[in-house]
This record gives sequence, C-alpha cells and structure tokens, in this order.
Amino acid sequence: MKQLGIKNFSGKRIWIIGASSGIGAACAKAFIEKGAKVALSSRRVEPLQQLAATAAANQSLVIPVDVTKDNQINDAYQQILQAWGGIDLLLFVSGIYTPLRASNFDFKTAEQTIDANLLGPMRAVATVLPEMLKAHSGHIAIVGSVAGYSGLPKALAYGPSKAAIINFCETLYYDLLPEGISVHMISPGFVATEATAQNDFEMPALITADQAASEILSGIEQGEFDIHFPKRFSGFLKFLRILPYPLYFWIVRRFVKI
Ligand SMILES: NC(=O)c1ccc[n+]([C@@H]2O[C@H](COP(=O)([O-])OP(=O)(O)OC[C@H]3O[C@@H](n4cnc5c(N)ncnc54)[C@H](OP(=O)(O)O)[C@@H]3O)[C@@H](O)[C@H]2O)c1
Repeated sequence: MKQLGIKNFSGKRIWIIGASSGIGAACAKAFIEKGAKVALSSRRVEPLQQLAATAAANQSLVIPVDVTKDNQINDAYQQILQAWGGIDLLLFVSGIYTPLRASNFDFKTAEQTIDANLLGPMRAVATVLPEMLKAHSGHIAIVGSVAGYSGLPKALAYGPSKAAIINFCETLYYDLLPEGISVHMISPGFVATEATAQNDFEMPALITADQAASEILSGIEQGEFDIHFPKRFSGFLKFLRILPYPLYFWIVRRFVKI
C-alpha cells in the first residue's frame, strides 16, 4: 500500500513547529513560496514574524510554542483550528543537540533532550491526531536524524531521542496507513544550521538548509515514508547499521576521531 502525498501545496494548511531557524525556517520559506498556508511555531517570536512578513495576507499565523509544554501545544492547535478549521500537515522539525559523552554525561541535559526531541513530537501528534482520525486524512512529518540509525559518538542523549523517533514513526505508520493518514519520517544527514555551527569537525556531505527543505518537500509530495538525505551519506549509514557489531564499531572508530 502506498501512502498519499501532497501533490500541490497551494492552499494546504501546514503547522511547522521549529520554524524560527535552520531546516524549519527553510521549509517555511519554501511552503510560503508554493502558496501554502503556514502556522509558524517555536519559542523565539521575532524570526517567525520576519518569515510571516514574506507571506501574503492571511497566508500565515505566528503562534509561539515551547514543545516541552503540553498546554502551549494544545493552545496553539486551538488557535489554528479557530483560524483554519484544521491542518493538512503537521511538520515537526524542532530539536536540540548537545554533544554528550560518557565523560560529561549529564542527566539534566539528557532529560531536556528527550523532552524536546521525543516527548515534544509525541505531544504534537497526540494533539492533532483526533481530528485527523475523524477526517481520515492528513499528514504527519517528523524530523529525526540519521544519528538515530545506530549509536554514534558524542550523542548519548541526542542519539537515543532520534532512534526513538524512528520507532515512533514506524509504529504510527501501521496504525495510520489504513486511516488515510500519511506518516513521513525525515532523517537528515549534516545540514549547515545554528545547531551544527558548534561542531568542531569537518562534516561529511554537508548540505544547506534550503537543500534539506527541497528534499523534505519533494518526499512529502511523493508520499514517501522514509525521507532521508543526502543519499550519499544517509545510504552509507543505512548500510553500516546492517553490519555485524565488531565491523560497525571498527568502521565508525576509523571515520570519527574519538
Ligand atoms: N542540522 C543538522 O545537521 C541536522 C541533522 C539531522 C537532524 N537534524 C534535526 O533537524 C531539526 C532542525 O534542526 P536545525 O539543524 O535546523 O537546528 P536549529 O537551526 O537549531 O533549529 C532548531 C529549531 O527547533 C526549535 N526549538 C528548539 N527547542 C524548542 C522548544 N523547546 N520549543 C519549540 N521550538 C524549539 C528552535 O526554535 P526556538 O529556539 O526559537 O524555540 C528552532 O526553530 C532538529 O530536530 C535536528 O535534530 C538536524
């Protein structure tokens, strides 16, 4: 069974959570250019307002949200329902990354990462699902990461949060396909954004946020479940994860200076 895509974004109602910078902002820009209606959410309001200023009248909503707060997600969704009556696509992009190794493993940071990167998307999905299930239509797209495929150095909290996103999307897919709701699991490789600006190593196959947005829009258009990019990097990591552990660890140690 093939999932439905969104063939024409014009007039589609899209809630982008994590729209204030990086991949989310680039997606918002691309959706605005394609004539979609965008509800822009994140904690920082100013960048959302700047994006909204590039849209036509009535094409955008600015709704600040902290994804770690249940009530804020619910209130934001109620505002969207009042304005638009529903959404066609939830695009959850928001995420945080703090490098963590065993030598500096800090539980508070781990807790915040899981709260933002895993419980955040779960909160948003729990909020929008009842209406989508009633309507038997809609799209849920969540940005995970290739870092969720299998364990990588310096990602003691980020890696598990993204691995869980993969499982969450796979498990949602079983239930939502027969309901006419599409699930899009998005796994980027390295993308040049505020989040990766802190990296002190050369990032292989680094792409721009606009390139990432173009991959995401095209994957959703085509109804893809597994949207991963750039393929030269994500494909390699997909291959690594099927190797026996001794070989896997040996290759990762060779490629990553740890
Ligand atoms: N860049 C990469 O190489 C890469 C690779 C794989 C996966 N990813 C994933 O792609 C997504 C976007 O990352 P990015 O690189 O574009 O990073 P970014 O530029 O730092 O953007 C992160 C976004 O998440 C929002 N956010 C963070 N915490 C939030 C919270 N508690 N509530 C609401 N919004 C929150 C930020 O907005 P505010 O700060 O305004 O709230 C911002 O809009 C993340 O899920 C990341 O894990 C990135």
